[in-house]
Amino acid sequence: MNNTLEAVYRTELDLPDRREGKVRDIYRVPMAGRTDPLLIIASDRMSAFDVVMPTPFPGKGRLLTEISLAWFKRLREANIVNDHLLSTDPADVEGVDERDHPLLAGRMMLCRACQVVPIECVVRGYITGSGWSDYQKTGSVCGVRLPEGLKQSARLEEPIFTPATKATEGHDENIDFERACEIAGTDVMERLRELSLEIYNFGRDYALEHGMILADTKFEFGFALDDDGNPTDELLLIDEVLTPDSSRYWPAEDYEEGRDQDNFNKQIFRNWLQAMCNRGEWDKTPPGPEVPREVVDQTIEKYIEAARRLAS
Ligand SMILES: Nc1ncnc2c1ncn2[C@@H]1O[C@H](COP(=O)(O)OP(=O)(O)OP(=O)(O)O)[C@@H](O)[C@H]1O
Ligand SMILES: [Mg+2]
Repeated sequence: MNNTLEAVYRTELDLPDRREGKVRDIYRVPMAGRTDPLLIIASDRMSAFDVVMPTPFPGKGRLLTEISLAWFKRLREANIVNDHLLSTDPADVEGVDERDHPLLAGRMMLCRACQVVPIECVVRGYITGSGWSDYQKTGSVCGVRLPEGLKQSARLEEPIFTPATKATEGHDENIDFERACEIAGTDVMERLRELSLEIYNFGRDYALEHGMILADTKFEFGFALDDDGNPTDELLLIDEVLTPDSSRYWPAEDYEEGRDQDNFNKQIFRNWLQAMCNRGEWDKTPPGPEVPREVVDQTIEKYIEAARRLAS
């Protein structure tokens, strides 16, 4: 039995090409005779406003992994989209010491390496966040015209696809569909728009049956590589999918138009951070502040609750 309370903040495995995202550590796993897969490990790092906090949120990486895996499975079974997952078993990762298996268990995915499409495929089914700000200013979101008179948090009759650039540094930037086509190609973007909307609609229905509103979400896609490492035209869903980190989930029982909704994901933690900023104690630049124990615990509680509802 793994100790789920033992936090994993940073991994240092003896594998090549270590990369570190805000939340995930990524390695290449050399395997003879085939394109090397990637080992993606969800750590317990927490980020907000694109800044990674110094305090681990114990168990968060496992919860995110559990939620993603369940969605990958549902989406495969519904024949909606194939994904990058190869294995969740530490024993399948060649070159990793057995002593590191407990660290990996529950938070790793061995994945097909892909050529990543450099577009964040955002789908919004409710008008909130930056979409709500844009709508108030322009009546549109990412160039998509919306009906007049929508209230804050309103459900959209038709979900909309609002792509963003994958910024290598700093914040992602909302772009319109034409701009996304210039970056990634029109054919690719048309496929991704259709696929993203299909995944979102499936996710929205499923979530609602489990007491949660899936307000919006972000997908990433990639082209699978062949044995020589060249991209094929096989599109795969990659990264994480429909987790509280990549999506806005609201508890369905509290939903009401015309106001902001409490989030399932980081709301408690973000409110605490925002209060710090308001007091002039932090300015949203690195390093982030140490997060007190009760804020960590209450936030993790929300991730547990989201996982529990989705699995129910
Ligand atoms: N199958 C895959 N092949 C190649 N890259 C992948 C694959 N799956 C996920 N990735 C990449 O791995 C990274 C995941 O790490 P993490 O989520 O911590 O990054 P991040 O800091 O959130 O950055 P990003 O904003 O790009 O997601 C992302 O850059 C994602 O694009
Ligand atoms: Mg990410």
